[in-house]
Amino acid sequence: MDTTRLVDSFGRAHDNLRISVTDRCNIRCFYCMPESGVQFMERGEILSFEEIERFVRVAVQLGITKLRVTGGEPLVRRDLAVLIRNLSAIPGIQDLALTTNAVLLAEMAKPLYQAGLRRINIHLDTLDRERFLKITRRDDLGRVLAGIEACLQLGYGPVKLNAVAVKGLTEPDIVPLAHFCRDRGIEPRFIEFMPLDAQKIWDRTRVLSADEIIQVLSREVSPLVDIPDRDPRAPATEYRYADGGGRVGFIASVTRPFCLNCNRLRLTSDGKLRYCLFAIEEADVKSLLRSGASDDEIARLIRSNVQAKWIGHEINSTRFVPPPRPMYAIGG
Ligand code: 5AD
Ligand code: SF4
Repeated sequence: MDTTRLVDSFGRAHDNLRISVTDRCNIRCFYCMPESGVQFMERGEILSFEEIERFVRVAVQLGITKLRVTGGEPLVRRDLAVLIRNLSAIPGIQDLALTTNAVLLAEMAKPLYQAGLRRINIHLDTLDRERFLKITRRDDLGRVLAGIEACLQLGYGPVKLNAVAVKGLTEPDIVPLAHFCRDRGIEPRFIEFMPLDAQKIWDRTRVLSADEIIQVLSREVSPLVDIPDRDPRAPATEYRYADGGGRVGFIASVTRPFCLNCNRLRLTSDGKLRYCLFAIEEADVKSLLRSGASDDEIARLIRSNVQAKWIGHEINSTRFVPPPRPMYAIGG
């Protein structure tokens, strides 16, 4: 097998793979899912753990070293801890992380920790029960908070909190979330609202920008200082509080696109490989896996997908076309 690294036509080396294990979710965040009537994939359409693991073994030979498991909501996938254990045991995997909405985390934190998971990103936009209900259409804030506490007690680290920032809605949540995180040694990351929602409600006027949030935090919590030596390939721009109260990250996909340093590939739960969150084209990994293809053939498919990678999304251009799948069917 040709094991040279996955470098695309813009010189970007890919070492990071995000794996969506289900498109299902137990809540209904409005910026991702419709309120009702979601058509989920059939069980047989979704890759089995064995299929995911085989794909990862091939990808590792091409230089993938970091994995993130996502959904939908990954904790609704049965026996997820088994997959976590198997993935973390694959030689060459240096880093394994999970993104979850934490609704099921109070129960799952321990088995996942025992399976080898240490890094976790928890999706939470508000600490206010009414607003949580409004955003997610479910009354599960209490369970999420219990999940976060369980995680901290077990010694997970780093624990990060992802908050989607939506103009005209989440402004009152910025400061309370910042304090919540400072008190617990959690790094919050504010994510600009992206055009990936199922109901096509996104428009530019609803983006609450990183700059606006930085101003609020600097004024009302503590001045924020840019961290110069941060990893240029990480999607989050990081700042630290001048008073030593920890870090804050911003995923400013709209106002500060970071495509030029992208090192990420994505595998959807139904086995399609995507070189970008916003990609229109996909490579059909599942058909190969299910037709008895060799590792070489899978490697060639990964390579050709990386070769086809574009320079970046065009959210800020009039040419922008949203991807045919909403967020829950891609994996964040
Ligand atoms: N814009 C920005 N972030 C989103 N997420 C889901 N939908 C959107 C959107 N339209 C985030 C969630 C989750 C992560 C996987 O993606 O916060 O943490
Ligand atoms: Fe579920 Fe995540 Fe989508 Fe919210 S953003 S509905 S938690 S998949």
